[in-house]
Amino acid sequence: MSSSAAESGSTGSDFVVVANRLPVDLEKLPDGGTRWKRSPGGLVTALEPILRGNKGAWIGWPGVPDLEVDAIVEDGLELHPVPLSSREVAEYYEGFSNATLWPLYHDVIVKPVYDRDWWTTYVEVNRRFAEVTAKVAADGATVWIQDYQLQLVPKMLRMLRPDLTIGFFLHIPFPPVELFMQLPWRTEIVEGLLGADLIGFHLPGGAQNFLYLARRLAGQPTSRGAVGVRSKLGVVQVGFRTVRVGAFPISIDSGHLDEMASSRAVRDRAREIRKELGEPKRIMLGVDRLDYTKGIDVRLNALLELLEEGRVDPHDTMMVQLATPSRERVDSYVQMRSSIERQVGRINGEYGRVGRPVVHYFHRPVPRDELIAFFVAADVMLVTPLRDGMNLVAKEYVACHHDLSGALVLSEFTGAAAELRQAYLCNPHDLDSVKDAMVKALTQDEESGRRHMRALRRQVLSHDVDRWAKSFLDALTRGGVAGSALVGVGEPIASDADA
Ligand code: ADP
Ligand code: G6P
Repeated sequence: MSSSAAESGSTGSDFVVVANRLPVDLEKLPDGGTRWKRSPGGLVTALEPILRGNKGAWIGWPGVPDLEVDAIVEDGLELHPVPLSSREVAEYYEGFSNATLWPLYHDVIVKPVYDRDWWTTYVEVNRRFAEVTAKVAADGATVWIQDYQLQLVPKMLRMLRPDLTIGFFLHIPFPPVELFMQLPWRTEIVEGLLGADLIGFHLPGGAQNFLYLARRLAGQPTSRGAVGVRSKLGVVQVGFRTVRVGAFPISIDSGHLDEMASSRAVRDRAREIRKELGEPKRIMLGVDRLDYTKGIDVRLNALLELLEEGRVDPHDTMMVQLATPSRERVDSYVQMRSSIERQVGRINGEYGRVGRPVVHYFHRPVPRDELIAFFVAADVMLVTPLRDGMNLVAKEYVACHHDLSGALVLSEFTGAAAELRQAYLCNPHDLDSVKDAMVKALTQDEESGRRHMRALRRQVLSHDVDRWAKSFLDALTRGGVAGSALVGVGEPIASDADA
């Protein structure tokens, strides 16, 4: 069975992005009205600038349950909302996506929940996304499916529309085999992904994990007979089809950020922020979705111990933590929020003075201009996740330091650490390592700081999000053959020597 755009009477789009969320969320206002606002997270940060310059379509959930919204066109970009009921939000989004897959793919930092009903709803919602995409895509179109919420869509879509070229990119880590094997529906997920022509991961390690699993799981005999799967050198052979697998480290619109951060308005605002904070000698900054993977607790613990040991002086050093609310009805997020807020209270209770808290904590998203001004104002950026696919915040901070000021403390457990070797790298599981990195960043001498920042900026400015998208889409549409490395397509990860 197939249901092409032509059959449904529309000409359809030649380039379609499919993601759980649209780039904008519909917000319900107290007066009953609605308005669109930017969606949270790195996926939207990365893809929005590419789609803005490219006429295409974006298929996704508008962020509010039980709401049917018509397609709209914004700046030449068609937005096609996929509705979700309250039950689907609870079971597909909060449940299977964010209480099963998210913790499983992030090293089981919290225990994943395996629930059969959530799985059933995940399958149903993935099918809906595939059906909407089959209607929106033009004949022979290129479709780019995003992230862990939609891993079954590639296979479902291929069955509906064999004429399409289908790419898939995973924005979070792909776990080691030992962890992935916990998942009761592991074979279905691997087979779902193998519906794509090209599957992209941030790092070669994720691609290698997937290649191993494809061989081990998808080749198993099924009730319909053996599929016949072989994988080698970045290629999986599924019957007569060839699926390519590669590493494509994502990035940001670095040139644009660099320009904005150098503007008079942003620099003035950055100076004002320092003044409003009481002109401390050193400002440390954290910017994250409020998520247990981000290690916000780790940096607060490190700060507390440094204050206790007298290695950080509360009279001249302060920390700002900007935390966007995220997945607020998922249990582990509720618990983490209260424990972080207790930690902030404890530090300020013990070391703050009247009008001078040591930690300024904001639980709300910050407008983009204001965020850039915070990046510019900060002397030290704290990026300490226990596990993160890439972490765009680290790259954003670097892009904002045109004058070579600033220092980046970066967890080794982020994808970004593979490229940003000149950061103050630390192991978030080893508090002493985090504390030492923070002290080194706070006390670096100007010349070595400039040297580090220059090297970091070279990497971030030359590897921007356009290059990422182009390398993925070139590999997808030109079907390049894998090279000699295990994951032969995509961008090489920078080595120490490159940094
Ligand atoms: P994730 O995708 O897991 O949220 P990333 O670091 O890759 O993590 O991307 C987060 C994106 O969200 C970045 O573009 C960052 O600037 C933005 N962001 C994070 N926290 C805030 C905040 N408090 N206010 C505004 N934007 C934020
Ligand atoms: C990460 C995920 C994205 C997700 C974003 C925000 O970046 O990789 O897929 O959209 O977080 O999370 P949310 O649950 O609010 O969509």
